[in-house]
Amino acid sequence: MTAVNSDKKPTLRLGVIGLGGATKQIMPTFLSHPEVQIVAATDLRPEACERFTADFNAPAYANIEDLCRDPAINTVYIATPHQWHKEHALVAASHGKHIIVEKPMALTVEDCDAMTQAATRNGVHLMVGHTHSFDPPVLKMREIIRSGDLGALAMINTWSYSNFLMRPRRPEELDTKKGGGIIYNQVPHQVDMVRLLGGGLVRSVRSMAWALEPSRPTEGSHITFLQFENGSAASMVFSGYDYFDSDEFHSWVGESGEEKQPNRHGSARAALRKFVNAGDEANVKSSSAYGSAASTGGPSVQQAPWHHPHCGVTIVSCALGDMRPSADGVLVYNQAGSAEVPVPRGRAFPDKGMVVDEMVLALKSGKSPLHDGAWGKATMEVCEAILQSAREKKEVFLHHQTPVRDAQPAV
Ligand SMILES: NC(=O)c1ccc[n+]([C@@H]2O[C@H](COP(=O)([O-])OP(=O)(O)OC[C@H]3O[C@@H](n4cnc5c(N)ncnc54)[C@H](O)[C@@H]3O)[C@@H](O)[C@H]2O)c1
Repeated sequence: MTAVNSDKKPTLRLGVIGLGGATKQIMPTFLSHPEVQIVAATDLRPEACERFTADFNAPAYANIEDLCRDPAINTVYIATPHQWHKEHALVAASHGKHIIVEKPMALTVEDCDAMTQAATRNGVHLMVGHTHSFDPPVLKMREIIRSGDLGALAMINTWSYSNFLMRPRRPEELDTKKGGGIIYNQVPHQVDMVRLLGGGLVRSVRSMAWALEPSRPTEGSHITFLQFENGSAASMVFSGYDYFDSDEFHSWVGESGEEKQPNRHGSARAALRKFVNAGDEANVKSSSAYGSAASTGGPSVQQAPWHHPHCGVTIVSCALGDMRPSADGVLVYNQAGSAEVPVPRGRAFPDKGMVVDEMVLALKSGKSPLHDGAWGKATMEVCEAILQSAREKKEVFLHHQTPVRDAQPAV
């Protein structure tokens, strides 16, 4: 992260809660967006706070309460580990701060309710992001579905194979009860995206999930079938075991939109084998954290060409054609052949600009963002149902789904 805090007159005057990996990823978006000013931050790690103050010439508070008392802040970005999202959102709401909370919104639908109620009670917006449902090609596909040009929506298939589970992890990231494993960490991206494409209202869930690697005792893969109320359906597959890499089917463009070195299968496993115990692994993860001696601090500046972010291979089938995100737009296949609809890139790499745009729109219009608390809770309900369906070997019916509110005017 680098100090670029100009004299902008921003709509979002941000307090950042948690200076870890997620913040590092979204910081280029915050810094490049004309409607954002980074006002202050807080983190439990003193070294991260010191680095923030040096980089941004801005206060780093000792705790969240102190940060939320700063009158210069109108919005907080909560990027602490998920078990803290509810508690931190409640503090922010009680101080009248609008909230962008990272995915997953929380660990249970009850916690999602508590967060939404606190936001409503205090008259603030609460938004859940980033997920890959904000990716510009996904939003373009939603627009094409709504236009009716491809006829009625039938199937959404999305598959992602990566090394997610085999990267260095803290012990709680490998414990499902504490929010570890793919269902709380990667599947929310898939669910949010297919709900956006499918209209939002999931009727039922049937899933199987596996913990295939004894040293990582949490779900690392799943296959799930979702039925939507509107008659369409989705299949979602995720495998995080560092064998096949589905970026091979996406022109070797990685999840963030980076151009990726091909055929590195197994390299995350090879790196893991060097650790003697879980402590070593956690230390390696924290040694690269913002503010640590080994960290360079700066955002990963992508020198090579970059493309849209994505979460694997996604194919949407309608009555009159299919479509899928490409590296730089949307590929549409119909009876006339195939054609790429280009989609403009955002301001920064990795591109998470739509998160900011959606909150800016909410603040300017006074209308709830699309990815509000009710939306986040509905996504969480699907994730919980995946775990339940896999455990009980049966179809689970849902009760808290919310439709996509499409008519979002341009910012
Ligand atoms: N949308 C995305 O693509 C994306 C990417 C990465 C992470 N995330 C989400 O962001 C959240 C954080 O994940 P991460 O990978 O950045 O974790 P991380 O461990 O890298 O960072 C978390 C940071 O929060 C700080 N922290 C913990 N408790 C705190 C407290 N009480 N007060 C202040 N600071 C506190 C830690 O010191 C750490 O710096 C998770 O919910 C994760 O799912 C989302």
